[in-house]
Amino acid sequence: MGHRAAIVGAGHTRFGVLDAGPRELIRTAIAAAFESVDRGVEPKDISEAFLATLGFGGGQIGNSSALLSEEGGVVGIPVTRVENACASGGFALRSAVGAIAARAAPLVLVVGLEKMTDVPNARRRYWLGVSGDTEWERLAGLTFAGVYGLIASRYFAEHGDASEALAEVAVKNHENGALNPNAHFQKRVTRADVRSAPRVADPLGLYDCCPVSDGAVALLLSAPELGRKFTDTPVYVDGVGGGTDFLAVQERPSMTRFRATQRAAHEAFRSAGWRRHDVSFLEVHDCFTIAELLALEDLGFAAPGEAAALTLSGATRRDGRLPVNPDGGLKAKGHPIGATGVSQAYEVFLQLRGAAGARQVPNATHALAQNVGGSGATATVSLFSVG
Ligand code: COA
Repeated sequence: MGHRAAIVGAGHTRFGVLDAGPRELIRTAIAAAFESVDRGVEPKDISEAFLATLGFGGGQIGNSSALLSEEGGVVGIPVTRVENACASGGFALRSAVGAIAARAAPLVLVVGLEKMTDVPNARRRYWLGVSGDTEWERLAGLTFAGVYGLIASRYFAEHGDASEALAEVAVKNHENGALNPNAHFQKRVTRADVRSAPRVADPLGLYDCCPVSDGAVALLLSAPELGRKFTDTPVYVDGVGGGTDFLAVQERPSMTRFRATQRAAHEAFRSAGWRRHDVSFLEVHDCFTIAELLALEDLGFAAPGEAAALTLSGATRRDGRLPVNPDGGLKAKGHPIGATGVSQAYEVFLQLRGAAGARQVPNATHALAQNVGGSGATATVSLFSVG
């Protein structure tokens, strides 16, 4: 898009199995975002907002924008709901940057929300599938873990057994999550734990899957030239790319390349004028461990088949040369669908301001976030910098 914006505040609820309902989650995240702005922003300053949510379980499935305006104290302003499955948050951020660039709104609120754990198991299984293909995948009994299990099997067939690398993704992300007070899981696991865990969809076991989580996240974005009015350290969105692919995996030329990610990355890097080596760390959409390997390849940080070796080399650990998911990723931090893409930007906001505490990535100045919908049918890639 060639557009920029500044993030000047951000708020995050705990992710996990929470008592709070959607209204309380939205209210808590927005209040924390206002609170975080160094030189103050009030609800009356906001001119537009975007709400990212799937509406899991059918909860407030229509007109949920009004929940945001009520709970954020911004009744009256235009609010748009964005629903692109697990990529809703990334697309909401992209819409906010577009609104700022169009000079329609100098100060914009973006909220990502999902309440998932109040849904009974049978209904949960139904809702976990709604973002995939109905005729060829869901009616055949395929779950998301099932689709990613097939993708992992295909990856192994093309490039050799990568199960040790998948286990390393889980170990690394749990280790990072253990340092994140907002994470759903804050416990370390070993490769032996990952190997011996119950199978979910072979070759994927329990620790290869993200959990089902509740949570909300809010961001305050301003026009880039206004950023320093609100804080000495705004974090800039330098580029946001988006992409789509066929909904059903079988319609795509390859099961192991996500063209939506590739297109989104191309657009983001072109509009920001960055090169891959500018990036200090990555937040990628590891809904299943295999997705972290695909992301590294589709984003251009590893050649096809080489993300496994890169991961096993330790490069993607917090102290490695290309840290990936320092907040624990979807695997350990959790995956409240609509909140995830906004949460990635929240982590970037902390890291680039040097405010990530025990999980701080040293000398981070540039970051990339990749947010994927369903089994790769939609994706965004966002690039951020500080200073
Ligand atoms: N990783 C690690 N531990 C997990 C876990 C996960 N993904 N999911 C659940 N657990 C733990 C629970 O904390 C619980 O531990 P406890 O016994 O110590 O309390 C135990 O495993 C059982 O939890 P439960 O909720 O009963 O698990 P489940 O069998 O119903 O669900 C999955 C496990 C993997 C099937 C479920 O988390 C899932 O469907 N994940 C994928 C979600 C998804 O598809 N999202 C969209 C992505 S595109």
